[in-house]
Amino acid sequence: MEQMTIEKIWEYYKEDLQLAEEKMSGILKTVAPAISAVGNHISSAGGKRIRPFLAILCSKLFGNAGDEVSTLAGSVEFIHAASLIHDDVVDGAGLRRGLPAAHSIWGNQVVILVGDFLYANALRLANLLGRQGIMDALCTATAKMSEGELIQLSKKGNPDMSEEDYMKIIQGKTAILMSAACKGGAILGNASQEQEKALESFGLKFGFTFQIADDILDYRAEEKVFGKTLGKDLEEGKITLPLINLLRDAEGSETERIEEIIRAEKITEKDLADIQDLFDKYKSIEKSYEKAATLINEAKAELSIFGDSMEKNSLLAISDYVLTRKK
Ligand code: IPE
Ligand code: IPE
Ligand code: MG
Ligand code: MG
Repeated sequence: MEQMTIEKIWEYYKEDLQLAEEKMSGILKTVAPAISAVGNHISSAGGKRIRPFLAILCSKLFGNAGDEVSTLAGSVEFIHAASLIHDDVVDGAGLRRGLPAAHSIWGNQVVILVGDFLYANALRLANLLGRQGIMDALCTATAKMSEGELIQLSKKGNPDMSEEDYMKIIQGKTAILMSAACKGGAILGNASQEQEKALESFGLKFGFTFQIADDILDYRAEEKVFGKTLGKDLEEGKITLPLINLLRDAEGSETERIEEIIRAEKITEKDLADIQDLFDKYKSIEKSYEKAATLINEAKAELSIFGDSMEKNSLLAISDYVLTRKK
């Protein structure tokens, strides 16, 4: 069977995605002008649409496509878009998808309300499917995402954060929604319990990997391609896996210097460069990649119960892409 690449997947499933885009743009055409303006800003800036693709692929794995799948795909992307809008306010981020973050154009008041609108409509869309299991997965994901962001906030600037704390945070803020997208697709495909569980678990491990990769890219991406400001996590005192690895390995005065940078209100280019040098010295980035690689292999192994198909191949290819992605 043909080896899928991420570009081929995007091309091959573009009509399925288009249907989901139509669901979303239909909802964005509302009477409140701010909603279409902010909504179009965030949608037209692109975004990789990973979560809709997960829903589409997991459903098509069982031969189910069309209207219901696009409703689910639109719903998960709306939850994601809402979380990004709110997250950029919380993180004080200036750049999103290569454009000014919505709050820096429309202000916090408007964009927080638009985020609420997107969350609410995401769940309204999902409710149209009349499937308790999907509703349950998406409501749980939405609740856990807020919890994840709140735990993260409470740990800000705290160098004692453990890898276990970190995994808990990223499970909430990122992995659970991806898992719900996969589980939802499986439910629409009338998967067996075993198949549904396998895809749910695939999505969770995929999501962990996705966020670890993002946290590496925050230090090592090319800003123009990544579309987000580099070094943002350090500036905010957000302790992610590369820094957790470094804090575990560094010694004496190095540890003091790292902790000083984490606590600083503002960081300088020199601070960031010093951290990057220590990452090199202790292979903190490589160690983060190793953890990500282990997790994505576990994710791929969940798919072993399925026979060969275009969709399975695409899920495997999208998994490889998570580790190699530049944006
Ligand atoms: C960004 O998600 C937030 C994280 C979970 C790291 P994506 O990287 O999927 O964002 P877009 O939709 O492609 O912009
Ligand atoms: C993203 O967390 C998770 C959610 C949006 C809920 P991050 O803060 O790490 O994501 P980016 O880097 O802003 O995209
Ligand atoms: Mg952020
Ligand atoms: Mg990030």
